[in-house]
Amino acid sequence: MNTPKDICQQTINKLCAKNKGILAADESLTTMNKRLAEIGLNSDETTRRQYRELLIDCPNIEQYLNGIILHEETLYQSSDSEKRFCDILTDKGLCIGIKVDQGLSDLPHSSEKITRGLDSLESRLADYFKQGARFAKWRNVYKIDKNTPSHHLIGLNSQTLAHYAKMCLNQGIVPIIEPEILIDGDHSIERTKVVTKAILSSLFDACVSFNIDLSQTILKPSMITSGKQSSEWPNPPSDVSAATLDIFKQVVPNHVASINFLSGGQSPQQASDNLFAIQSQADLPWNVSFSFARAIQQPCMKLWAGESQYVDEARQELINRLKDNCRL
Ligand code: 13P
Repeated sequence: MNTPKDICQQTINKLCAKNKGILAADESLTTMNKRLAEIGLNSDETTRRQYRELLIDCPNIEQYLNGIILHEETLYQSSDSEKRFCDILTDKGLCIGIKVDQGLSDLPHSSEKITRGLDSLESRLADYFKQGARFAKWRNVYKIDKNTPSHHLIGLNSQTLAHYAKMCLNQGIVPIIEPEILIDGDHSIERTKVVTKAILSSLFDACVSFNIDLSQTILKPSMITSGKQSSEWPNPPSDVSAATLDIFKQVVPNHVASINFLSGGQSPQQASDNLFAIQSQADLPWNVSFSFARAIQQPCMKLWAGESQYVDEARQELINRLKDNCRL
């Protein structure tokens, strides 16, 4: 019988297949409703399902993707032709991922946010596994400001991420650990380097204390850029690549299976160009790829605009974005 470790290894092998990435299509209900409102649509379960079907059932996405991260709602939904989304993904050979954190809440007596969901995680993971999920994602959020992120938040979040990763691995689910550093703010790229180093060092210390097998774990970080309101923005891809790799080579252990960057509010073109600049550097110790949401989905969602006659055009745009992120 396959042990959880064997199952995770099969999944990690698939998720690290070269020159492909992971699509994050796991926006929370609130975020998804916001995105749909931006294109003038009222959001309900049907609209969300139709949009997710456009992504999941897009012909040939498997040429560019190893997996898709779903929201819990999508995991249990089916297409218009009543085929389970999970079956569609499995038939395409794609790994099924699931967002398992339950969003942010205020950290008491501070302006910072912590991520909820650890207390109910164990039983939810068992259900998600039964549905076919083989990898998971947990997102922490850090805002750079004069006094943030605090040491307190960095410590708490690192412990939570490592604890979550342990629970996933125990159940045969590959964990994606996502410590997102927001690009909002006027901070310099140098400040982001310092903050990233502190966050990732703390995270990997926590992983050691939880005895996490990093060879079966994926890191989903922000690229190192200046704040979006800084005079340095937009940073040239060569600066993003140099800053990111300078810090990552110091603090990300070589045996981390894969680094799949988030796009974080960069434009689709910026995110692709910066990813390519990072990937093009010689002798990277890890697999380096993407796990973008907005930088892949935004143009396609706009084209679709809730109209079934635009599905083909929107899917073509989805493929264009995916291709641009698989340039190597
Ligand atoms: P973005 O690529 O839009 O930043 O989203 C990535 C993600 O999944 C955030 O959790």
